[in-house]
Amino acid sequence: MEKLINQAEETQTLSQEELAQLLAADEAAAEKLFAAADRVRRQQVGDGVHLRGLIEFSNTCRQNCLYCGLRRDNHQVQRYRMEPEEIYGLAVKAVGYGYKTVVLQSGEDPYYTLEIMEPLLRRIKALGLAITLSLGEKSREEYARYRAAGADRYLLRIETTDQALYERLDPGMSLANRLRCLQDLRELGYEVGTGCLVGLPGQTLASLAADILFFQSLDADMVGIGPFIPNADTPLGQETGGTFELATRVMALTRLLLPNSNIPATTAMETLHPQGRILALQRGANVVMPNVTEGDYRRQYALYPGKICVNDTPAHCRGCITGKIQAIGRHVATDAGFRRKEPERRFAQIERTGIEQESRGESEGMHE
Ligand code: 5AD
Ligand code: SF4
Ligand code: FES
Repeated sequence: MEKLINQAEETQTLSQEELAQLLAADEAAAEKLFAAADRVRRQQVGDGVHLRGLIEFSNTCRQNCLYCGLRRDNHQVQRYRMEPEEIYGLAVKAVGYGYKTVVLQSGEDPYYTLEIMEPLLRRIKALGLAITLSLGEKSREEYARYRAAGADRYLLRIETTDQALYERLDPGMSLANRLRCLQDLRELGYEVGTGCLVGLPGQTLASLAADILFFQSLDADMVGIGPFIPNADTPLGQETGGTFELATRVMALTRLLLPNSNIPATTAMETLHPQGRILALQRGANVVMPNVTEGDYRRQYALYPGKICVNDTPAHCRGCITGKIQAIGRHVATDAGFRRKEPERRFAQIERTGIEQESRGESEGMHE
C-alpha cells in the first residue's frame, strides 16, 4: 500500500483497481494516505484555507433525487425563496465578514429566471466578490449568460459516475445531461467544480474509484466530496449511509490525483464527526464554505438531518471556523482563491522580490 501511495504522490497516477485497494486498505495504510494528501496539499496549495460564504437562497427544487431532503415530493419541508434584494443583502454581509467568494446555491428552481439572475449577479460582482453558482442543471445559454453577468465558478457534483445507479437515484435525470452541463461550463470558461456522494446504496468501492478517475479526467478545478446521510423524509431514509472515514479516503485520493485543485472540507463530514472539517483539512482539503444564510432558512435548507450550524449566526460561524483553522497552525487565505495551476511558491518569491508577489495577487484579482 505504501508503494501505491508513494507512486500516486510522485506521478499522480493510480488505476481504478489500485484506487479501490486503497479505499479498502487497513487503518494504518489510511493514515499514510492521509499524511501523503496533507503533504501534497501543503506543497501545492499551501497552508491558507479559502473561505467561501454560502448563501442558500431557495430550497425549492423541481427534481426528485431519492437521497435529498429538498426533493419535490418531500412535503415535510417548508419551502422558501429569497427575493433578489435579500440575496444581495447577504452578499453585502459576506463582504463584511471578509469573504472573497460567495456561493449562490439553491435547488433547481425555475423561479429564478435570467431576468432575475443577470442583474443580481452584476450587482454582486460589483461588490468585488468572486461568484460561484450551484443551481443545478441549466441550458448552455443560461450558463453563458450567468458567466457574462459575472459568475466565475460553478459547482455541479456528478454524484456518482455509475450510470445505472445515477439514473435510479435521480429519476428523470440522465448522466449524459450531467456530463453535457459540465462540458458546457468548462467551454464557457468557468472554474468547474464537481464531486460525489460516498456511501450511496448499491455503490461499490470500484465505482468510487471510477468517480476519482472522472474528477481527474475532467481536470476539475474543485471537488466536493461528502458522505451520503440518510434523510428520514426520503425514500432512502432507512438506508445505511456513508462514513466519515470512507469519505475522507475518497477526498485524500482526489488530492493525490489532482494536486492543485480546491477541495472543501464539507459540512456533511462535520455532521458525522464533531471535528470533521478540521480533520478533512488535515487529510487533503483546503477550502471551507461557512454558511451566511440567516435565521429559519438555515434549518429549512435540509438536504440531510443533523446539519451543523443551524442555530448559529453567520458572524458566529465566521469566528468559529477561523479559530479552528488557526488552532491547527493554518490561516485564512486573503485572496479570492482561484485554482493555482502552479505549485505554491509564495515564500520563495517573497525572498526574491516583493514585486512578483504583488503582481501575482493582482492577476488573481483580475481573473474573470
Ligand atoms: N446526504 C449528503 N449529501 C446530500 N446531498 C443531497 N442529499 C444529501 C444527503 N442525504 C448533496 C448532493 C448535492 C449537494 C447540494 O447536497 O451531493 O449535490
Ligand atoms: Fe434538487 Fe439538488 Fe436535492 Fe436533487 S440533490 S433534489 S437537484 S436540491
Ligand atoms: Fe458554524 Fe462553527 S462554523 S458554529
